[in-house]
Amino acid sequence: MQEDSGLPGGFCTRLLVTGGAGFIASHMIISLVENHPEYLVINLDKLDYCASLKNLDSIANRANYKFLQGDICDSHFVKQLFEAEHIDVVLHFAAQTHVDLSFLDSFKFAYVNTCGTHILLTAAYEASVKKFVYISTDEVYGGSLEEEFDETSPKRPTNPYASSKAAAESFVLFFWERYKFPVVITRCSNVYGPHQYPEKVIPKFISLLQQNRKCCIQGTGRQTRSFLYASDVVDALLTVLKVGKAGEIYNIGSNFEISVSQLARELIQMIQNTSSETETECWMDYVKDRPVNDLRYAMKSEKIHNLGWRPKVHWKDGIERTVAWYKNNFHNWKNVEHALEPFI
Ligand SMILES: NC(=O)c1ccc[n+]([C@@H]2O[C@H](COP(=O)([O-])OP(=O)(O)OC[C@H]3O[C@@H](n4cnc5c(N)ncnc54)[C@H](O)[C@@H]3O)[C@@H](O)[C@H]2O)c1
Repeated sequence: MQEDSGLPGGFCTRLLVTGGAGFIASHMIISLVENHPEYLVINLDKLDYCASLKNLDSIANRANYKFLQGDICDSHFVKQLFEAEHIDVVLHFAAQTHVDLSFLDSFKFAYVNTCGTHILLTAAYEASVKKFVYISTDEVYGGSLEEEFDETSPKRPTNPYASSKAAAESFVLFFWERYKFPVVITRCSNVYGPHQYPEKVIPKFISLLQQNRKCCIQGTGRQTRSFLYASDVVDALLTVLKVGKAGEIYNIGSNFEISVSQLARELIQMIQNTSSETETECWMDYVKDRPVNDLRYAMKSEKIHNLGWRPKVHWKDGIERTVAWYKNNFHNWKNVEHALEPFI
């Protein structure tokens, strides 16, 4: 990946990032474009409801960045893209990602996340791409209170989003087993930071509280989640991109874990500036739970630690930066207000 490939435009490496106007991939693109002028970074995004090109304002006019609006499920378009752009590396993020929505429209999740991935894999394989990184999730393991999952643990998804990601992983691995097409899979904990559409728990609670509204907590709020700051995930993915082994799976976990109700309490205390427990409880509203809400996902991440990656951003710093960002950027998405309603 370091040598000049002699491809048009004089770039050593031509990367296709899918879903780049969404949350995590926008951070990935900014990092690649700013720190790697030798790469051409092509962002393929359908611009779904949760996407915002404002996430990419800081690099939109850079010579080593290009945006293409399109759908990963459109096989004709995807094939032509690979033929025209001479892609070397694919970082595949694009997906339907909202677990609550997946219970309502599981077929859409299966189609975009699984068939879309298959379409992209086929085109990438035919174009002899040198590395294909598939961004998967810890949710493929299903929840467990005690067990810490490693990469060999069985997949037991408990919602249609996780099932569609697990099915997509199977296609990714099929291309490795059958063709030795150089794929790598990452399974990441929950990610937080700027640019995330406020349907997800952290930006939702922040935005509600910034509008002086209560946090809506699904079920008991006792379910815990591990969180990683977006820049740590970008570093992990860069590590996998550079030294991850073909055919391998890497967990990207964090040892920071918090229950949803404790998360709400911390955000209330920060944003409503209170230390009173009674006052804090007044900002918490308990709403109907998801059909299945895994209590905990815990992962072992030794495999990626052995590649030299460790998370660096402390929760306190990361959450302060995130809260500050939403103060000025909540309206970066169209019709974003309805994302704050409880999901019932
Ligand atoms: N956010 C997390 O906590 C988390 C954790 C683990 C894994 N992941 C995985 O990381 C990836 C990115 O997650 P995110 O939270 O940043 O997502 P997101 O929902 O913020 O963004 C998804 C992006 O994909 C685009 N997209 C959707 N369907 C498309 C299609 N058919 N064609 C082209 N583009 C399409 C959307 O427009 C959007 O820009 C996903 O694959 C997700 O499963 C996310």
